[in-house]
Amino acid sequence: MLTGNDFETKEAGRLSFRAPVANDGPAIHALVERNKPLDLNSRYCYIILCEHFSSTCVVVEEEGGLVGIVTAFIPPERQDTLFVWQVAVDTGMRGQGLAKRMLRHLLSRHNMKRIRYVEATVNPSNEASRSLFRSLAKDGKCDMSEELIFPAKMFGNGDHEQENLIRIGPIDSAGKTLIERNT
Ligand SMILES: CC(C)(COP(=O)(O)OP(=O)(O)OC[C@H]1O[C@@H](n2cnc3c(N)ncnc32)[C@H](O)[C@@H]1OP(=O)(O)O)[C@@H](O)C(=O)NCCC(=O)NCCS
Repeated sequence: MLTGNDFETKEAGRLSFRAPVANDGPAIHALVERNKPLDLNSRYCYIILCEHFSSTCVVVEEEGGLVGIVTAFIPPERQDTLFVWQVAVDTGMRGQGLAKRMLRHLLSRHNMKRIRYVEATVNPSNEASRSLFRSLAKDGKCDMSEELIFPAKMFGNGDHEQENLIRIGPIDSAGKTLIERNT
């Protein structure tokens, strides 16, 4: 069985990247809560995600506190696809390439060898999120498509925007190498 330590990368400098453990659930919940406009899920949801999907998620620590997370999973029927669920970087750490480094860290794991597509859903107004995925596609020299997947009405009468599906790929082995090398 794989554990968080199997996916740990100590970076030179003050940041360390690793797979989460269940104990990280509450800190991930707090990070998502302070980094709008992400939807906040329950603590239980994040604990379970860390318990069962640790190998496809990453957390970044600075002096013992979490400053960035990517939660993701491989849909059971599509083993060549990494679905990125939530990405968050604390405000003070943004604009330094941290979100992309987390995606790169994930894609370089040995359990990602079969991944040829990266998917995520974004709100039309979230330019930071769209730019992140566009930048990843550019690094891997592959296509990125975007289309409506969940209309706003599915989220009730609140102010939730529609969700567009972003799909990057196919990422071939040369593209993967380019993504992993890019800094
Ligand atoms: C989206 C988010 C994770 C980006 O984190 P980040 O660490 O600042 O992103 P990076 O520095 O790795 O930037 C990656 C690319 O996106 C671009 N980008 C980042 N923020 C941007 C912004 N606000 N507007 C336009 N482009 C932006 C960067 O220029 C970079 O592109 P480049 O490689 O071509 O230069 C961060 O803004 C965040 O946590 N936002 C709140 C939560 C959220 O909306 N999450 C996304 C939902 S999936």
